Amino acid sequence: MSAEGWKQAEPAGRVGAAPIRVAMLGCGTVGGEVVRLLREQAADLAARVGAPVELVGVAVRRPHRHPELGELLTTDASALVTRPDVDVVVEVIGGIEPVRTWLLEALKAGKSVVTANKALLAEDGAGLAEAADSSGADLYYEASVAGAIPLLRPLRESLAGDRITRVAGIVNGTTNFILSSMAASGASYADALDEATRLGYAEADPSADVDGYDAASKAAILASLAFHTRVTAADVHCEGIRNVSAVDIAAARRLGCVIKLLAICERTGDPESVSARVYPAMIPAAHPLAAVDGAFNAVFVEAEAAGQLMFYGQGAGGAPTASAVLGDLVAVARNRVVGGRGPRESTYASLPVLPMGSVPTRYHVSLDVADRAGVLATISGAFAAQGVSIAAVRQTSGDGTGARLVVVTHVAPESALAATVSELARLEIVNGVESVLRVEELGRKGVAG
Ligand SMILES: NC(=O)c1ccc[n+]([C@@H]2O[C@H](COP(=O)([O-])OP(=O)(O)OC[C@H]3O[C@@H](n4cnc5c(N)ncnc54)[C@H](OP(=O)(O)O)[C@@H]3O)[C@@H](O)[C@H]2O)c1
Repeated sequence: MSAEGWKQAEPAGRVGAAPIRVAMLGCGTVGGEVVRLLREQAADLAARVGAPVELVGVAVRRPHRHPELGELLTTDASALVTRPDVDVVVEVIGGIEPVRTWLLEALKAGKSVVTANKALLAEDGAGLAEAADSSGADLYYEASVAGAIPLLRPLRESLAGDRITRVAGIVNGTTNFILSSMAASGASYADALDEATRLGYAEADPSADVDGYDAASKAAILASLAFHTRVTAADVHCEGIRNVSAVDIAAARRLGCVIKLLAICERTGDPESVSARVYPAMIPAAHPLAAVDGAFNAVFVEAEAAGQLMFYGQGAGGAPTASAVLGDLVAVARNRVVGGRGPRESTYASLPVLPMGSVPTRYHVSLDVADRAGVLATISGAFAAQGVSIAAVRQTSGDGTGARLVVVTHVAPESALAATVSELARLEIVNGVESVLRVEELGRKGVAG
């Protein structure tokens, strides 16, 4: 594409209003696709917006890598976002600084912002929302969670009249790919990660994905929108999948479950509070989320009047994510044309975040125990001492030296479950705690016990 390609085609319909002028920050995997779609769909976008949508500048680090953008390129993002002729800033760079500074400058200057930056929103969504409010600009970020899947707009607008009780789902494609291939082939975590890296599903440094931080940022954004409160990444309890073993996967299968890395946001308790957490958990194989394989994302929303809703699709990738960015761009451009503004941030509920120790959950514990009389009674006693009720026990008798004991609990506070496991590990009759996994039913019955 030549820079000349940026002379936009004549719109299909009559588009009388002045052009909406867009500055882009970043032109990588997502940004490149945004640029392509902006160009290819110029006429349709103009007809939908009611004004031409014109790209007037693109800030990158290494302009020589983007010869097709010609004179649109700059390395001075700060100057670009405050240019008087810019109406909307689309940010697809990522990370906290210097992007936060640029977006605050843009919002304070009255530019609407569309961003895919989950890390920044989960850390300082409040700062961006305040800057947007102070100038009356729009702040849209559909692409920051679950790529192409329309999820934030439904939470923010379609379900604004309902009371959402839970948002839970698979919001990281890399870890879902790894767990799916472990389940399909019996591969170890290390081998499945190698495969994901080879196929381009995992980054050279996979930490943000496999340690759960990416999903935690998304959980913070989802909880904030669903419960009209402020939740940041630091509020989200976060465990990744590095310790999920082939033994865990096999244990889940025996129980009629699969293991998924879940982001769970719940409204809980009396007094009311919210819980936001990310960890690998067993879910019943019959639950719709269990069938979400490979790099796909899916999010299950439960609301009092609407009941259960499920959103499914491609959670990442250049073109899918660009679809969400362009949807937001059309929305903020329309708002500019008619002189209005989209919904403001809604945090009126100001709910406290429940500490992880108080979160009610269930455990599946697999133990290597001594193969002798009285073991079951001692183990049961350790659970009872913490007030944890056992739902099911399965014992595989061993070779005279050891046996495997699997215990599935009823719901109990996380702190009591964790204390029980610590106590079990200290018992003389326990040779080892083989696996500890949480069991999530997500609104359905069906887990053993
Ligand atoms: N990739 C996905 O599937 C996906 C999905 C959902 C959300 N997102 C989010 O979308 C955003 C972008 O992701 P991406 O995958 O497109 O990233 P990417 O491929 O790494 O592209 C980043 C772009 O930002 C530019 N850039 C980096 N630092 C810069 C700086 N200091 N000044 C100016 N430009 C700078 C780079 O310039 P050069 O080209 O010159 O290096 C590049 O064009 C992130 O917030 C990410 O979390 C991505």
